[in-house]
Amino acid sequence: TAAPAPPRGAFLVFEGADRAGKSTQCGLLVEHLKAQGVPAELWRFPDRTTAIGKMIDAYLTSQAEIDDAAVHLLFSANRWEKSQELQRKLAAGTTLVVDRYAYSGVAFTAAKAKPGLDRQWCQAPDAGLPAPDAVFFLSLSTEAAAARGGYGEERYEKADFQKKVLEQFQSLRGPAWRMVDASQSVEAIQQQLREAAGAVVARCARGAPLGRLWE
Ligand code: TMP
Ligand code: MG
Repeated sequence: TAAPAPPRGAFLVFEGADRAGKSTQCGLLVEHLKAQGVPAELWRFPDRTTAIGKMIDAYLTSQAEIDDAAVHLLFSANRWEKSQELQRKLAAGTTLVVDRYAYSGVAFTAAKAKPGLDRQWCQAPDAGLPAPDAVFFLSLSTEAAAARGGYGEERYEKADFQKKVLEQFQSLRGPAWRMVDASQSVEAIQQQLREAAGAVVARCARGAPLGRLWE
């Protein structure tokens, strides 16, 4: 007889504006989970390693100009091309800690406020993707973010645009969202995340079903 399926892993997404500390917190959380014996991997979107990801990287680093609608679809395609592997990993019991997902996709494009790029249009290509079991939103004012040594050189890393992105994120909040005050110390934030993530991992291990965007 076949071995019983392992408890499924949790799909944990981190969102927030640039400089909120997502990458730091994701890295710490993955190490913590592994130390607790929870199989876990760190993922990020955009995944710049694929062919589509390389086009996105060229766009973000201003080596390429791509139409706003077209690049939006590339970001979404970059999630779709990873979605089978993502589901396989979860089913095999690996918890995925994912630095950005479709919420960034919608917020950044909708913040451009161009005709034809309204939120409904922005959401459509991601409909049906696996939905995260929890979205940890690292909340930080644009002023506090800018004070952290300033933004980088990439496209979108400008205070006025980041403000518009934050407004878009607000309207995407749903029941799976957990707001985290990202102005606290790295340690204090991590402590809250460990507790919240632990509860979600346990719920998924007990068999909570994986949902789909934007249901
Ligand atoms: P990163 O700094 O986390 O690598 O993300 C690169 C930039 O891409 C960041 O400014 C957010 C933006 N972005 C989008 O515009 N659409 C998306 O779908 C994603 C995942 C990120
Ligand atoms: Mg960045």
